[in-house]
Formats: sequence, structure tokens, C-alpha cells
Amino acid sequence: MLRNGPDAFGWVTILLHWTIAILIAGLLVLGYVMTRPDIDPVLQFDLFQWHKSFGFTALGLAAIRAVWWLAGRHPASVAGLSTPERHASFAVHILLLCLTLAVPVTGWALASASTLDIPSFYFNLVVIPHLPLAKSAVAEALWTTAHAVLAYGLAGLVLLHAGAALHHHFIRHDAVLVRMLRNRWRDG
Ligand code: HEM
Ligand code: HEM
Repeated sequence: MLRNGPDAFGWVTILLHWTIAILIAGLLVLGYVMTRPDIDPVLQFDLFQWHKSFGFTALGLAAIRAVWWLAGRHPASVAGLSTPERHASFAVHILLLCLTLAVPVTGWALASASTLDIPSFYFNLVVIPHLPLAKSAVAEALWTTAHAVLAYGLAGLVLLHAGAALHHHFIRHDAVLVRMLRNRWRDG
């Protein structure tokens, strides 16, 4: 029930999937809004701190998710998928897993490389140390570009992925979306 079954996702996978999905959707919108040039600087500072706190939360959950994915069983594909479809969905899932790690890590790197040296307060509770990276305007600009490119790349892939899930549900009427929404595996 908690773990994945031979053809069903367990609750841990399902809960991690939707929590991370909601966090990432929010972080994409927040990241876009807080970097608009006409934003009030005081509001911008607060939004950056919220973005970093939720971003670190996404990173922690994505790391747990990656370990869970590597250690656990992968349910068989839904019946009726062709071999190219199975390969394509597997490739997109691997890329999504990698990007959910790489995007926050590049965010952490850009905050660490900044010459402003602003600490990352995790929800005002603890300070998360910077990564041991050289601080310079060039390094910060490079990590900022990497973070933005990977984040918007992730957004594009999520749209593709969600579109495929909706296509399966509403056009092909198969179990692809439903099995990521509820758990039918009873013996694990
Ligand atoms: C999955 C997690 C994350 C997502 C989806 C995400 C997404 C984004 C997006 C879309 C932007 C706007 C890019 C632009 O238009 O220029 C942005 C900017 C930014 N992010 Fe993230 N981010 C994540 C995690 C993090 C983390 C963990 C940190 C730091 C600890 C961080 C720090 C920043 C900073 C400082 C900026 C502003 C960069 C600038 O000065 O232009 N992000 N993020
Ligand atoms: C940031 C957003 C998202 C990320 C990072 C993400 C990531 C992933 C990953 C890595 C998997 C593979 C799961 C595994 O094999 O353990 C997966 C599966 C799945 N996702 Fe997402 N997802 C996101 C959003 C969505 C949305 C919005 C939908 C639906 C509208 C969706 C529907 C599904 C479905 C139905 C599966 C199961 C596919 C199958 O049966 O193999 N995902 N997702």
C-alpha cells in the first residue's frame, strides 16, 4: 500500500508526486513574478526568501523522491501503450526527476556565488549554508542563467507531461492518470 505494486503506485510515490508538482508550479510562478524589473525592492527581497525556502523544501522532497524511485519497484506500464510510447514516457520521467534536483541546486548555487552574500533563511528558522563556490559577478550571472534556462525547460516538460496525462485520461480513457491519483495496491 505504501510501496509501489507490480502495476500500481503506492501512497508514498503518489503523495510525493503531487506535493512536488504543486511546489514546483508555485515556484515557477513565484520565480517569474519576483524577477520582473518593475517590482518593489522590499517586496522582492521577501519573495526571494520565500522562493528560497520553498525551493529548498522542493529539493529535499525531490532527493527523497529520487532515492525512493531508485530503491523501489517500478509498476509495469498501463496496457495498450506502444514500445515507443513506453520509452518516451520513461525518458520524460527520468528527465523530470533530474530537473527537479538540478533546478533547485542551480538556485542554491546562484545564491551562493552572489557577491551580495545574502544568507538563505529557511522559513526564518535556520540559515542554510552557501555551497562552497567562488563568489563573483560572472559566476552569479552564469548560475542565474543556468537556473532560469533549466527552470523554464522544466516548465515546458511539465506541460508536455501533464498534457500527455490528460490525453490518456480524456481521449484514450485508460488508467494512466487514475493510477497516479489513487492507490489500488492492497498487498504491499
Ligand atoms: C524546484 C525549485 C525551483 C524552481 C522551479 C525555481 C524557479 C525559478 C524561476 C522560474 C526563476 C525566474 C528566472 C528568471 O525569469 O530569470 C527563479 C529565480 C530565482 N531563483 Fe529559483 N527556483 C527553484 C529553486 C530555487 C532555490 C532552491 C533557490 C535558492 C536557494 C532559488 C533562488 C532563486 C533566485 C535567487 C532567483 C532570482 C535570480 C535573479 O536574480 O534573476 N531558486 N527561480
Ligand atoms: C512539476 C510537476 C511534475 C513533475 C516533476 C512530475 C514528475 C513525474 C515523474 C518523475 C513521474 C514518474 C513516476 C515514477 O515512475 O515513479 C510521474 C508520473 C506521472 N505523472 Fe507527473 N509530474 C508532474 C506533474 C504532473 C501533472 C500536472 C500531472 C497530471 C495532469 C501528472 C501526471 C502523472 C501521471 C499520470 C504519472 C504516471 C505515469 C505512469 O503511469 O507511468 N504529473 N510524474
